[in-house]
Amino acid sequence: MIYLDNSATTKPYREVLESFNKVSTEYFGNPSSLHGLGGDAEKLLSQSREQIAKLLKVQANEIFFTSGGTESNNIAIKGTALMYKGRGRHIITTKIEHPSVNESMEQLKSLGFRITYIPVDKNGVVRITDIEEAISEETILVSVMHVNNETGSIQPIKEIGQLLKKYSKILFHVDYVQGIGKVPLHFQECHIDLCTISGHKFHGLKGTGALFIRQGVRISPLFSGGGQEWKQRSGTENVAGIVAMAKALRLTLQRQEQCVADMIKIRDFIRMELEKIDGIKVHTPVFPCAPHIINFSILGFKAEVFVHALEEKGIYVSTTSACSSKTKKASSTLLAMGVSKDEALSSIRVSLSYENTMEEAVQFIDAVNEAGNRLRKVMN
Ligand SMILES: Cc1ncc(COP(=O)(O)O)c(C=O)c1O
Repeated sequence: MIYLDNSATTKPYREVLESFNKVSTEYFGNPSSLHGLGGDAEKLLSQSREQIAKLLKVQANEIFFTSGGTESNNIAIKGTALMYKGRGRHIITTKIEHPSVNESMEQLKSLGFRITYIPVDKNGVVRITDIEEAISEETILVSVMHVNNETGSIQPIKEIGQLLKKYSKILFHVDYVQGIGKVPLHFQECHIDLCTISGHKFHGLKGTGALFIRQGVRISPLFSGGGQEWKQRSGTENVAGIVAMAKALRLTLQRQEQCVADMIKIRDFIRMELEKIDGIKVHTPVFPCAPHIINFSILGFKAEVFVHALEEKGIYVSTTSACSSKTKKASSTLLAMGVSKDEALSSIRVSLSYENTMEEAVQFIDAVNEAGNRLRKVMN
């Protein structure tokens, strides 16, 4: 098997599963319980919080555990809207966000908020001036993703943060789900108030994630209940999953240091070879882009036909993002970049992890060539 769908999810590291298993069997107490078993679980919870905070260069009391990226995005956006609706009802975001951001915005729109969707250029990148022009007295939040999950393009988060520093009443939220472990992001330097991460995108387990909330920032909780996570996110914490996520983050950041240069070589090889094939158009920009994502169209074929043709050869890729791939709609991210609807409908995403090798990349390119030739013959 050659797994090239790491932006959808990653395979948990063996050590991560071992940690999950150990904590689930030996430290299964509820961290809110008063007895020793609860105390042990609570200790593991705070150790994991400290470890994750240290790896992200933030304070432990700025990390709030959630069930993943979708939940963190919802809490950040709706929690800000609920908290500051008296101050203003305008939110700025982009045209290329993940559905967990988009749909949250649309829900807020139906509740009377005004949402500005900033366009992107042909590289899938927003212009700072567009954001600046959109800001009004009513603006309470700007939410911009770091690495786009479909194309890998990187947004100018530092510059946006610098711009927003001038507006003390506007909170800055960043969806860092695809960037973490691949492209460094300094939360403080970028003046980020709220930042989303998801454990299963860096070899942790599904159902684990966190929201960074900068010290001093207050947002309304969306869940009512036992008041866990300093009342910000009620619900018994997934201690085993959180310990596993802390380990996954540590291992991934180590791998990043050792292997990111190799990952870039593999990505560049795939890009170069794809560009040689007739009828293939690469959409991922040469710059600024993350090291792990390549998005391209195989003109004349529906993307899902190609995904299945590659699957027959044991190669796993994606059409667009995992959550949108079953809707068979053209990718709104590619459309926003000016890609035609037909091209968008035939787009494929390859996403690497540090486990992928150059040999696999060579096999992938051979398989694309073979599948393309075979499908063309069938069609003619
Ligand atoms: C950019 C981005 N944000 C948020 C999410 C949602 O994360 P989760 O699957 O943990 O809910 C994803 C998942 O693909 C993503 O790519």
